[in-house]
Amino acid sequence: MNILITGARGQLGNELRRLLETGYAEIGAIPAAYEGAQVDYVDFDVLDISNAPAVEIWFDEHGPYDIVFNCAAATNVDGCEADEARAYHVNAAGAENLALAAASCGAKLVHVSTDYVFPGDVPESRTEDDPVCPVSAYGRTKWAGEVLAQAACDRVFIVRTAWLYGYVGKNFVKTMLRLVRESGKISVVADQMGNPTSANDLAYEMLKIALTDEYGTYHCTNNGTCSWFDFASAIVDGAGVPCEKEPLSSQEYKRRFPQSADRPQYSSLCNKRLEATLGDEMRPWQKALASYLNNLAERGGTE
Ligand SMILES: NC(=O)c1ccc[n+]([C@@H]2O[C@H](COP(=O)([O-])OP(=O)(O)OC[C@H]3O[C@@H](n4cnc5c(N)ncnc54)[C@H](OP(=O)(O)O)[C@@H]3O)[C@@H](O)[C@H]2O)c1
Repeated sequence: MNILITGARGQLGNELRRLLETGYAEIGAIPAAYEGAQVDYVDFDVLDISNAPAVEIWFDEHGPYDIVFNCAAATNVDGCEADEARAYHVNAAGAENLALAAASCGAKLVHVSTDYVFPGDVPESRTEDDPVCPVSAYGRTKWAGEVLAQAACDRVFIVRTAWLYGYVGKNFVKTMLRLVRESGKISVVADQMGNPTSANDLAYEMLKIALTDEYGTYHCTNNGTCSWFDFASAIVDGAGVPCEKEPLSSQEYKRRFPQSADRPQYSSLCNKRLEATLGDEMRPWQKALASYLNNLAERGGTE
């Protein structure tokens, strides 16, 4: 099997690599079909997915691939708000470039998207069929990427996830641990709800989804819904660090950080299609976080 992983230096790319190199995720062994796979791990410096000719040349020289996992993205939500055009190049045009190249060599494309395609105005978990309406530049460009990728290639899996944390790279968990160490206090939004998700668990499900021929959109998050404040409290409590915790409203957060992008208020996802296709093995978010905190020092360290 010949595989391409883009954005390989990011959180999710690193977890896919860990699983493919060891054969194991925290949930369990990865499918035997990946044994002996030849994998090209590339990031921005080697292959800029927003550069269409570069993508074409890469596939000509290194393909054909059986599966392409696109983990490359502009993921800084506030950064995307400040420069939507740049975000579009990566999140939308980049996805299309990879989908066109995958289609031309007969590869499957697993493209990762986000809960932020939803407006968050309904206090119920969203399924794959619910209407989208992003409220941020990040969400708009990710939605455009979904549409363009599916138009360019028949064999596309869109995997929407949320509130992701991996061992390598920056994320909310590491930021909370750093803030507590530095100031003994965290101030976190308490009225935005979603699903904290382990990149290790997500990578495992992506490897399984990619082996099916059930193309289309999947939601894949750890199970259970909480606020950013609940998530932050579980992080500092789980790490055993005493600290002062200040819950904030979205309104107060915006007052303190006026340049920040709007976020959906309730963007919890329901893994309905995953459950129906493969069975939903995603752990409750508290369990996934506990194993992350246990392994963090050994596997990835600090922000
Ligand atoms: N993080 C979350 O909370 C979250 C939530 C929902 C969905 N997702 C989605 O999950 C996927 C993986 O996210 P992640 O957290 O693993 O992201 P990440 O850690 O930010 O990694 C993304 C990687 O893509 C690279 N990249 C950026 N622009 C590129 C380009 N033009 N060509 C090639 N590579 C490029 C980045 O390089 P640089 O670091 O050098 O820019 C980085 O190594 C993304 O599709 C993201 O939208 C993430």
